Amino acid sequence: MCGIFGIVTDKEQTLGPILIEAARRLTYRGYDSVGAATISGGKIDLRKDVGRVDEVAKKYNLAEMSGRRGITQLRWATFGEPSQVNAQPHLDSDGDLVGAHNGNVVNNVELRQQFMAEGMTVRSHNDGESCVHAVERYIDKGCDFIEAIRRAHADLQGDYAFVIGRVNDDKLFAIKKGSGLVIGIGQGFTCVSSDLPSILPLTRTIVRVQDGEIITLWADRVELRSVKDGSLIVREPELITETMEAVQKGGYAHFMLKEIHDQPQVAREVLHMLERNLQVQVVLDKIKRARHVYFIGCGTSYHACLAGSVYFAQLAGQAIIPVLATQFIPQYLPAVGPQDVGLFVSQSGETKDVLNALQAAEGRGMTCFGLANVIGSTLSKTTECWLPLCCGYEISVPATKTFTNQVVTFLVLAYRLGGRDTKELEQIPALMEQTIDSVAAAVLAITPSVNQWNDLYCLGYGATYPMALEGALKLKEITYAHCEGMLSTEFKHGPLSAVTRGFPVLFAAGPEDIPLIVSGINEVTCRGGRAIAIGQEDARLRANASDLIVLPEATPQISSLLAVLPLQLLSYYMSISRGYDPDFPRNLSKTLTVD
Ligand code: F6R
Repeated sequence: MCGIFGIVTDKEQTLGPILIEAARRLTYRGYDSVGAATISGGKIDLRKDVGRVDEVAKKYNLAEMSGRRGITQLRWATFGEPSQVNAQPHLDSDGDLVGAHNGNVVNNVELRQQFMAEGMTVRSHNDGESCVHAVERYIDKGCDFIEAIRRAHADLQGDYAFVIGRVNDDKLFAIKKGSGLVIGIGQGFTCVSSDLPSILPLTRTIVRVQDGEIITLWADRVELRSVKDGSLIVREPELITETMEAVQKGGYAHFMLKEIHDQPQVAREVLHMLERNLQVQVVLDKIKRARHVYFIGCGTSYHACLAGSVYFAQLAGQAIIPVLATQFIPQYLPAVGPQDVGLFVSQSGETKDVLNALQAAEGRGMTCFGLANVIGSTLSKTTECWLPLCCGYEISVPATKTFTNQVVTFLVLAYRLGGRDTKELEQIPALMEQTIDSVAAAVLAITPSVNQWNDLYCLGYGATYPMALEGALKLKEITYAHCEGMLSTEFKHGPLSAVTRGFPVLFAAGPEDIPLIVSGINEVTCRGGRAIAIGQEDARLRANASDLIVLPEATPQISSLLAVLPLQLLSYYMSISRGYDPDFPRNLSKTLTVD
């Protein structure tokens, strides 16, 4: 994700504390490296390193940094490992320009080669540095700053925003293309940032920047221009009246709803990251040669393990043993050894049950890999290598975006292991967006009637089975209703006796499993129950199910991922209807560090 902040003031002053506070407030966007630069006359003071804001601020005394202009950046590594040289901001070849970005420049590798061939000094592997050189390239050819940014924009592919400044000047410049950017206007200063939380403590007068706009910031005014033709854009500032908490929720009523809507964007980011992460091949090579492979997690993360095991078998012909972390020790520990591989999956990277299993497995010499969201977590530090989920902070207790990014990661691994073209997976973010937009009304429409019941079942088959388990977990977690997730074909072996008139049973239907799902649907409807199907448009589902929540066309595996989205929304709407706070369900905690 990453976060940027830049400020221009009307006098030389100590900018360090402002930059540190802005960085703290952007921490939710990334926290593996932090940097700050101040510009004072002809000098740039640049300090940056790997670590969290407070660590880096203390180590490099960021608080003492002064100037009239300042930039800070929070990094969530995608291009280049977290390291001091890859941390942002970056300088140009001569050290006259300094800039930082958020987002992804997808042609970074090609651009770096061009810059080096043109004689520029490229110091890092990070795509933020490419933004600076892309501008330098045209400044050196004699372009003015706006023209240089316009041309750089044509060279830089991907979604990003960046802020940049030059020595012996009184301005900062910024551009938005796909990533968030907001301007703040205050007494004696202007500023720009990826998001409002870093601006609101300074001013509540803001201007929202649109894609394709270049901004010039002076201490007393800002100017917006179109990247297309350089023409001036007039936009009146607005006054923000919401509380900080409301702002952090990005306009959504709850963090859970925001995080549900974040899913397409974080999926995009994890796909970009995995494309270039060298650890992926390390993990796959070990899996290929292993005697047995275990995917290990708890709760929602276990459901992702289960989905991963289905994808690995279906797409790569590789059998996997998915196992709940606490069952790993009594059941499998006596059987594991150095020939085996374990992939430990956890949002927090701190779940005690998972760490216990990890420690026990390491004791038996098993190769242990991690998949975690929280950088610097115990799981990320103690496994041989680990893959980050790139979700930023997940604040809501019910996991949503971290689950879908776990599933996306498993899809990428299974595609790569099976020698399939991962290009097909690039449609996932758009399909998720389409699903969230298109199912919301149908889900809202069924909520009042489903909400009358305190007993529910959520069924799936094959690739949708883990999604049914996950949907059921979300429903019970935040509605406090009993909801059981199970294999659709198992329902007739006992639970069918629960069905009475109107009793709701949810079916997640994969496109290749329709005949079996339709049998299950009819077993429910012929007893007066209500079968709510979630699947692609299909005449058989239309004819047999009581309701059909339609998913976009996709492969069976991608479709299974999409099926969880309406279930997340249903649990959210039901929780609200019941008057509960879905972000903080009773009795639960986001990180379970106890046995
Ligand atoms: C449910 C949920 C939990 C966690 C579980 C494991 O929404 O979030 O079931 O998945 O406690 O936590 P992590 O993934 O942090 O190991």
